Amino acid sequence: MSNAKPTILVTGGAGYIGSHAVLALQRAGYEVIILDNLVYGHRDLVEQVLKVKLIVGDTSDRALLDQIFAQYEIAAVMHFAAFIAVGESVSQPGIYYRNNVTGTLTLLEAMVAANVNKFVFSSTCAIYGEPQQVPIPEDHPQNPMSPYAASKAMVERILVDFDRAYGLKSVRFRYFNAAGAEPGGRLGEDHNPETHLIPLAIFAALGKRESLSIFGTDYATEDGTCIRDYIHVTDLAQAHVLGVNYLLKGGESEVFNLGNGNGFSVRQVIETTKAVTGREIKTVECDRRPGDPPILVGSSEKAQRLLGWKAQYPDVKDIISHAWQWHQHRHGS
Ligand SMILES: NC(=O)c1ccc[n+]([C@@H]2O[C@H](COP(=O)([O-])OP(=O)(O)OC[C@H]3O[C@@H](n4cnc5c(N)ncnc54)[C@H](O)[C@@H]3O)[C@@H](O)[C@H]2O)c1
Repeated sequence: MSNAKPTILVTGGAGYIGSHAVLALQRAGYEVIILDNLVYGHRDLVEQVLKVKLIVGDTSDRALLDQIFAQYEIAAVMHFAAFIAVGESVSQPGIYYRNNVTGTLTLLEAMVAANVNKFVFSSTCAIYGEPQQVPIPEDHPQNPMSPYAASKAMVERILVDFDRAYGLKSVRFRYFNAAGAEPGGRLGEDHNPETHLIPLAIFAALGKRESLSIFGTDYATEDGTCIRDYIHVTDLAQAHVLGVNYLLKGGESEVFNLGNGNGFSVRQVIETTKAVTGREIKTVECDRRPGDPPILVGSSEKAQRLLGWKAQYPDVKDIISHAWQWHQHRHGS
């Protein structure tokens, strides 16, 4: 291998998970170029924290992609760029299929044309639908229950077909609930609108929201609320580095769950957020949301076995503490 550092194109690298992956790639010795249209990404974090090249543009812009692949020697693409709000995907499916499926297809076609054949993809545990067994293994039947989840399942299928037809090798990561922030407090979750439980609980603790809604308190779980698998974003980022290493060493296409294997209930998250922040959180008990399974916990045994991945921060208290540090840093308390 030459001494030149391989360059990874990271789409959506100005967003939450992508920015953490960029940091992890830098620490692992890779060169990084970000492609992000900044619809939801944060230019300031790229410029002030990551300090890598940012190309502001869209994954559906074929001419731009051709130019990028001609100008830079890209060893692999990590593809985070997508719209992510499940509820919005139900009310506006067209923009989800256009961005998440068509945009990805354009990117993959540009890669094939440029002979770039390594791809790491952000998929989701939402493609499993209602679990028939927990922890959920990768070969669990799929039943995506929203256009968002369906858009991810479609791309997974496209990736299988592109491997067969063009030899494009991919690692598909099905994340459970990404949460937390870089332990140094310089990067973190800043979605607008925010729909994820931990940042919403922190907003409620800070008084930036009047209350926090608990959707369903009569599930067949110990405290009646839904149980989810929260994975620290730094652990996710590290898995992406291992995924790209695996592909660059000639690995075959694979799919991996990424969760920490521990479930935490909504009430446990709220109680832990209260303990971490030292503040009260006003809650409102609401009806169940349709399509919310009682328990979603994944088995990441395959990622541990094949990639050597291990969650460094499996405890939800660490995840919430890091998210809290980030919020104080970003928004003040
Ligand atoms: N956050 C989670 O818990 C979670 C769970 C499962 C899967 N995922 C997946 O992980 C990925 C990253 O999620 P996130 O939470 O970091 O979201 P995010 O919104 O913070 O980041 C997505 C980034 O992609 C950019 N983007 C969107 N469409 C684009 C396009 N067409 N061209 C260029 N840039 C575009 C946005 O500006 C944003 O910076 C997504 O693909 C998401 O579906 C996230």
